[in-house]
Amino acid sequence: MHQFLPYAWFQGKCVPFEEAKVSIATHALHYGTGAFGGMRAIPDPQNPNTVLLFRPDRHARRLCQSARLLLTELREEVVLNALELFIKANKPDSPIYLRPFVYTSDLGIAPRLHNIETDFLIYGLELGDYLSPEGVSCRISSWTRQEDRSLPLRGKISGAYITSSLAKTEAVQSGFDEALLLNSRGKVSEASGMNLFLVRDGQLITPGVDQDILEGITRSSVMEIAKRMGMEVVERPVDKTELFIADEVFLTGTAAKITPIRKLEATILDSERPIMNSLRARLNSITEGRDSDYEDWICRIKL
Ligand SMILES: Cc1ncc(COP(=O)(O)O)c(C=O)c1O
Repeated sequence: MHQFLPYAWFQGKCVPFEEAKVSIATHALHYGTGAFGGMRAIPDPQNPNTVLLFRPDRHARRLCQSARLLLTELREEVVLNALELFIKANKPDSPIYLRPFVYTSDLGIAPRLHNIETDFLIYGLELGDYLSPEGVSCRISSWTRQEDRSLPLRGKISGAYITSSLAKTEAVQSGFDEALLLNSRGKVSEASGMNLFLVRDGQLITPGVDQDILEGITRSSVMEIAKRMGMEVVERPVDKTELFIADEVFLTGTAAKITPIRKLEATILDSERPIMNSLRARLNSITEGRDSDYEDWICRIKL
Protein backbone atom coordinates (compact mmCIF):
# COMPACT_ATOMS: atom_id res chain seq x y z
CA MET A 1 0.00 0.00 0.00
CA HIS A 2 1.23 3.48 -0.82
CA GLN A 3 1.62 6.04 1.91
CA PHE A 4 0.17 9.18 0.31
CA LEU A 5 1.18 12.62 1.54
CA PRO A 6 -1.54 14.37 3.56
CA TYR A 7 -2.07 17.29 1.15
CA ALA A 8 -2.65 17.43 -2.59
CA TRP A 9 -2.54 20.43 -4.92
CA PHE A 10 -5.96 20.50 -6.56
CA GLN A 11 -7.88 23.19 -8.43
CA GLY A 12 -5.33 25.85 -7.56
CA LYS A 13 -4.76 25.19 -3.87
CA CYS A 14 -3.56 22.69 -1.27
CA VAL A 15 -6.37 20.52 0.08
CA PRO A 16 -6.38 17.33 2.20
CA PHE A 17 -5.54 14.36 -0.07
CA GLU A 18 -8.90 12.66 0.64
CA GLU A 19 -10.79 15.76 -0.57
CA ALA A 20 -9.02 15.93 -3.94
CA LYS A 21 -11.59 13.95 -5.91
CA VAL A 22 -12.65 13.91 -9.55
CA SER A 23 -15.91 12.77 -11.15
CA ILE A 24 -16.31 9.39 -12.86
CA ALA A 25 -17.19 11.37 -16.02
CA THR A 26 -13.81 13.12 -16.11
CA HIS A 27 -12.75 13.31 -19.74
CA ALA A 28 -9.07 12.34 -19.18
CA LEU A 29 -10.06 9.22 -17.25
CA HIS A 30 -11.69 7.86 -20.40
CA TYR A 31 -9.41 9.15 -23.13
CA GLY A 32 -5.96 9.23 -21.51
CA THR A 33 -5.74 12.93 -22.32
CA GLY A 34 -3.43 13.91 -19.51
CA ALA A 35 0.28 14.30 -19.03
CA PHE A 36 2.26 13.81 -15.90
CA GLY A 37 5.61 14.29 -14.32
CA GLY A 38 7.50 12.32 -11.72
CA MET A 39 9.99 13.89 -9.36
CA ARG A 40 11.80 12.94 -6.21
CA ALA A 41 12.37 15.07 -3.12
CA ILE A 42 14.29 14.16 0.02
CA PRO A 43 14.79 15.80 3.40
CA ASP A 44 18.23 17.42 3.36
CA PRO A 45 20.52 14.96 5.22
CA GLN A 46 22.53 18.00 6.42
CA ASN A 47 19.61 20.18 7.44
CA PRO A 48 16.36 18.76 8.86
CA ASN A 49 14.26 21.83 7.97
CA THR A 50 15.06 21.73 4.28
CA VAL A 51 13.82 19.57 1.43
CA LEU A 52 15.93 18.94 -1.68
CA LEU A 53 14.30 18.74 -5.11
CA PHE A 54 16.27 17.40 -8.07
CA ARG A 55 16.14 19.63 -11.17
CA PRO A 56 12.59 20.95 -10.66
CA ASP A 57 13.15 23.46 -13.49
CA ARG A 58 13.70 20.63 -15.97
CA HIS A 59 10.71 18.70 -14.67
CA ALA A 60 8.49 21.78 -14.85
CA ARG A 61 9.68 22.49 -18.38
CA ARG A 62 8.96 18.94 -19.57
CA LEU A 63 5.52 18.99 -17.98
CA CYS A 64 4.68 22.29 -19.69
CA GLN A 65 5.95 20.90 -23.00
CA SER A 66 3.77 17.82 -22.47
CA ALA A 67 0.83 20.14 -21.79
CA ARG A 68 1.57 22.01 -25.00
CA LEU A 69 1.48 18.72 -26.91
CA LEU A 70 -2.02 18.31 -25.47
CA LEU A 71 -2.81 21.86 -26.68
CA THR A 72 -3.03 23.11 -23.10
CA GLU A 73 -1.23 26.09 -21.68
CA LEU A 74 0.60 25.49 -18.42
CA ARG A 75 3.27 27.90 -17.23
CA GLU A 76 6.50 26.76 -15.58
CA GLU A 77 6.13 29.38 -12.80
CA VAL A 78 2.70 27.95 -11.98
CA VAL A 79 4.17 24.44 -11.62
CA LEU A 80 7.18 25.58 -9.58
CA ASN A 81 5.06 27.72 -7.28
CA ALA A 82 2.59 24.88 -6.69
CA LEU A 83 5.47 22.46 -5.99
CA GLU A 84 6.88 24.77 -3.35
CA LEU A 85 3.53 25.28 -1.61
CA PHE A 86 2.85 21.54 -1.83
CA ILE A 87 6.18 20.66 -0.16
CA LYS A 88 5.70 23.29 2.54
CA ALA A 89 2.21 21.96 3.31
CA ASN A 90 3.34 18.33 3.49
CA LYS A 91 6.66 18.81 5.33
CA PRO A 92 8.03 15.40 4.22
CA ASP A 93 10.42 13.69 6.62
CA SER A 94 11.33 10.79 4.32
CA PRO A 95 12.06 10.47 0.56
CA ILE A 96 8.99 11.21 -1.54
CA TYR A 97 7.87 10.92 -5.13
CA LEU A 98 5.81 13.77 -6.54
CA ARG A 99 3.29 13.32 -9.29
CA PRO A 100 2.22 16.54 -11.02
CA PHE A 101 -0.54 15.95 -13.57
CA VAL A 102 -2.24 18.14 -16.16
CA TYR A 103 -5.43 16.72 -17.65
CA THR A 104 -8.74 17.39 -19.36
CA SER A 105 -10.94 17.88 -16.33
CA ASP A 106 -14.21 18.56 -18.18
CA LEU A 107 -17.00 16.04 -17.76
CA GLY A 108 -18.47 14.06 -20.63
CA ILE A 109 -17.73 12.44 -23.94
CA ALA A 110 -16.03 13.12 -27.29
CA PRO A 111 -12.26 12.74 -27.55
CA ARG A 112 -10.81 16.16 -28.27
CA LEU A 113 -8.40 18.76 -26.98
CA HIS A 114 -10.27 21.93 -27.99
CA ASN A 115 -13.05 23.65 -26.08
CA ILE A 116 -12.29 21.70 -22.97
CA GLU A 117 -11.51 22.56 -19.38
CA THR A 118 -8.16 21.42 -17.98
CA ASP A 119 -6.68 21.30 -14.50
CA PHE A 120 -3.31 20.74 -12.92
CA LEU A 121 -2.83 18.73 -9.73
CA ILE A 122 -0.03 17.28 -7.63
CA TYR A 123 -0.04 14.42 -5.22
CA GLY A 124 2.83 12.69 -3.51
CA LEU A 125 3.76 9.47 -1.83
CA GLU A 126 6.60 8.06 0.18
CA LEU A 127 8.95 6.12 -2.07
CA GLY A 128 12.13 4.21 -1.37
CA ASP A 129 13.55 1.96 -4.10
CA TYR A 130 11.25 1.45 -7.09
CA LEU A 131 13.44 -1.33 -8.46
CA SER A 132 16.04 -3.38 -6.60
CA PRO A 133 19.35 -1.47 -6.58
CA GLU A 134 21.06 -4.90 -6.77
CA GLY A 135 19.77 -5.31 -10.30
CA VAL A 136 16.75 -6.51 -12.25
CA SER A 137 15.91 -9.23 -14.72
CA CYS A 138 14.46 -8.02 -18.02
CA ARG A 139 12.72 -9.57 -20.95
CA ILE A 140 12.31 -8.17 -24.42
CA SER A 141 8.67 -7.23 -24.61
CA SER A 142 6.32 -8.59 -27.23
CA TRP A 143 4.86 -5.05 -27.22
CA THR A 144 6.43 -2.40 -29.44
CA ARG A 145 7.09 1.13 -28.25
CA GLN A 146 4.71 3.57 -29.95
CA GLU A 147 5.94 5.81 -32.76
CA ASP A 148 6.18 9.56 -32.52
CA ARG A 149 4.01 9.87 -35.62
CA SER A 150 1.08 8.29 -33.78
CA LEU A 151 1.58 9.74 -30.30
CA PRO A 152 3.65 12.68 -29.05
CA LEU A 153 6.40 10.71 -27.33
CA ARG A 154 8.32 13.80 -26.18
CA GLY A 155 5.59 14.27 -23.62
CA LYS A 156 4.74 12.01 -20.70
CA ILE A 157 1.24 11.46 -22.03
CA SER A 158 -1.00 9.32 -19.81
CA GLY A 159 -2.55 7.35 -22.67
CA ALA A 160 0.88 6.14 -23.77
CA TYR A 161 1.27 4.21 -20.54
CA ILE A 162 -1.11 1.48 -21.68
CA THR A 163 1.86 0.04 -23.60
CA SER A 164 4.14 0.38 -20.56
CA SER A 165 1.49 -1.32 -18.43
CA LEU A 166 1.04 -4.22 -20.84
CA ALA A 167 4.80 -4.67 -21.16
CA LYS A 168 5.44 -4.51 -17.42
CA THR A 169 2.70 -6.99 -16.59
CA GLU A 170 3.79 -9.34 -19.35
CA ALA A 171 7.32 -9.23 -17.94
CA VAL A 172 6.27 -9.82 -14.34
CA GLN A 173 3.80 -12.57 -15.24
CA SER A 174 6.49 -14.39 -17.17
CA GLY A 175 8.93 -14.25 -14.26
CA PHE A 176 10.93 -11.06 -14.95
CA ASP A 177 11.15 -7.76 -13.13
CA GLU A 178 11.03 -5.36 -16.05
CA ALA A 179 10.40 -5.09 -19.80
CA LEU A 180 12.58 -3.67 -22.56
CA LEU A 181 10.70 -2.40 -25.57
CA LEU A 182 11.97 -2.30 -29.12
CA ASN A 183 10.70 0.44 -31.41
CA SER A 184 8.87 -0.13 -34.68
CA ARG A 185 12.22 -0.30 -36.51
CA GLY A 186 13.36 -3.12 -34.23
CA LYS A 187 15.92 -1.05 -32.30
CA VAL A 188 16.11 -0.87 -28.52
CA SER A 189 13.98 2.00 -27.22
CA GLU A 190 13.58 1.92 -23.42
CA ALA A 191 12.03 0.07 -20.48
CA SER A 192 8.44 0.48 -19.24
CA GLY A 193 9.35 3.64 -17.33
CA MET A 194 13.12 4.06 -17.65
CA ASN A 195 15.74 4.87 -20.26
CA LEU A 196 18.53 2.45 -21.07
CA PHE A 197 22.32 2.71 -21.22
CA LEU A 198 25.00 0.21 -22.12
CA VAL A 199 28.77 0.24 -21.89
CA ARG A 200 30.94 -1.25 -24.61
CA ASP A 201 34.71 -0.90 -24.54
CA GLY A 202 34.56 2.03 -22.15
CA GLN A 203 32.04 3.93 -24.28
CA LEU A 204 28.70 4.91 -22.72
CA ILE A 205 25.94 4.32 -25.27
CA THR A 206 22.23 5.17 -25.14
CA PRO A 207 19.49 5.17 -27.79
CA GLY A 208 19.14 8.67 -29.22
CA VAL A 209 16.07 10.89 -29.01
CA ASP A 210 15.10 9.65 -32.49
CA GLN A 211 14.55 6.13 -31.12
CA ASP A 212 11.04 6.80 -29.73
CA ILE A 213 12.26 7.24 -26.18
CA LEU A 214 10.93 9.55 -23.53
CA GLU A 215 13.53 12.28 -23.11
CA GLY A 216 14.36 11.33 -19.53
CA ILE A 217 15.78 13.92 -17.16
CA THR A 218 17.86 11.26 -15.40
CA ARG A 219 19.13 10.18 -18.82
CA SER A 220 20.33 13.64 -19.76
CA SER A 221 21.77 14.13 -16.25
CA VAL A 222 23.72 10.85 -16.47
CA MET A 223 25.02 11.82 -19.91
CA GLU A 224 26.21 15.16 -18.59
CA ILE A 225 27.82 13.66 -15.49
CA ALA A 226 29.61 11.07 -17.66
CA LYS A 227 30.89 13.73 -20.06
CA ARG A 228 32.13 15.90 -17.19
CA MET A 229 33.91 12.80 -15.80
CA GLY A 230 35.69 12.49 -19.14
CA MET A 231 33.77 9.52 -20.54
CA GLU A 232 32.86 9.14 -24.16
CA VAL A 233 29.07 9.29 -24.53
CA VAL A 234 27.36 8.21 -27.73
CA GLU A 235 23.69 8.47 -28.69
CA ARG A 236 22.90 6.00 -31.45
CA PRO A 237 20.51 3.21 -32.47
CA VAL A 238 21.11 0.11 -30.37
CA ASP A 239 20.50 -3.46 -31.55
CA LYS A 240 19.02 -6.05 -29.23
CA THR A 241 22.01 -8.37 -29.55
CA GLU A 242 24.38 -5.66 -28.33
CA LEU A 243 22.73 -5.86 -24.93
CA PHE A 244 23.79 -9.48 -24.50
CA ILE A 245 27.46 -8.76 -25.16
CA ALA A 246 27.72 -5.35 -23.50
CA ASP A 247 30.07 -4.89 -20.54
CA GLU A 248 27.32 -3.18 -18.52
CA VAL A 249 23.62 -2.47 -19.10
CA PHE A 250 21.57 -0.25 -16.82
CA LEU A 251 18.32 1.68 -16.59
CA THR A 252 17.78 5.28 -15.54
CA GLY A 253 14.70 7.10 -14.32
CA THR A 254 13.46 9.29 -11.51
CA ALA A 255 11.78 6.37 -9.75
CA ALA A 256 14.41 3.74 -10.64
CA LYS A 257 17.42 6.10 -10.24
CA ILE A 258 20.26 4.00 -11.75
CA THR A 259 19.41 0.29 -11.74
CA PRO A 260 21.62 -2.38 -13.30
CA ILE A 261 20.22 -5.15 -15.49
CA ARG A 262 21.62 -8.39 -14.08
CA LYS A 263 19.79 -10.81 -16.36
CA LEU A 264 18.40 -10.41 -19.85
CA GLU A 265 16.06 -13.12 -21.07
CA ALA A 266 18.03 -16.28 -20.11
CA THR A 267 21.45 -14.60 -20.09
CA ILE A 268 23.18 -13.51 -16.87
CA LEU A 269 25.07 -10.27 -17.53
CA ASP A 270 28.43 -9.37 -16.02
CA SER A 271 28.16 -8.27 -12.39
CA GLU A 272 31.25 -6.03 -12.55
CA ARG A 273 29.92 -2.58 -13.35
CA PRO A 274 32.65 -0.01 -12.73
CA ILE A 275 31.18 2.70 -14.95
CA MET A 276 27.65 2.36 -13.66
CA ASN A 277 28.96 2.32 -10.09
CA SER A 278 30.88 5.56 -10.53
CA LEU A 279 27.90 7.27 -12.21
CA ARG A 280 25.53 6.05 -9.52
CA ALA A 281 27.77 7.23 -6.69
CA ARG A 282 28.02 10.65 -8.32
CA LEU A 283 24.28 10.94 -8.98
CA ASN A 284 23.55 9.97 -5.37
CA SER A 285 25.89 12.59 -4.00
CA ILE A 286 24.28 15.20 -6.27
CA THR A 287 20.70 14.34 -5.31
CA GLU A 288 21.68 14.36 -1.62
CA GLY A 289 23.04 17.88 -2.01
CA ARG A 290 26.66 16.84 -1.31
CA ASP A 291 28.19 17.82 -4.64
CA SER A 292 29.13 21.47 -4.99
CA ASP A 293 29.81 21.05 -8.74
CA TYR A 294 26.11 20.43 -9.31
CA GLU A 295 24.55 22.88 -6.83
CA ASP A 296 22.45 24.33 -9.64
CA TRP A 297 20.67 20.98 -10.11
CA ILE A 298 19.30 21.08 -6.58
CA CYS A 299 16.52 23.31 -5.30
CA ARG A 300 16.42 23.74 -1.53
CA ILE A 301 12.99 24.43 -0.05
CA LYS A 302 12.92 25.71 3.55
CA LEU A 303 10.00 24.32 5.49
C1 LIG B 1 8.53 5.76 -20.43
C2 LIG B 1 9.58 6.41 -19.59
N1 LIG B 1 10.84 6.48 -20.03
C3 LIG B 1 11.82 7.05 -19.30
C4 LIG B 1 11.59 7.60 -18.06
C5 LIG B 1 12.69 8.25 -17.28
O1 LIG B 1 12.50 9.64 -17.25
P1 LIG B 1 13.05 10.54 -16.04
O2 LIG B 1 14.48 10.24 -15.93
O3 LIG B 1 12.78 11.92 -16.48
O4 LIG B 1 12.29 10.14 -14.84
C6 LIG B 1 10.29 7.54 -17.56
C7 LIG B 1 10.03 8.07 -16.22
O5 LIG B 1 9.25 8.83 -15.96
C8 LIG B 1 9.27 6.95 -18.33
O6 LIG B 1 8.00 6.89 -17.87
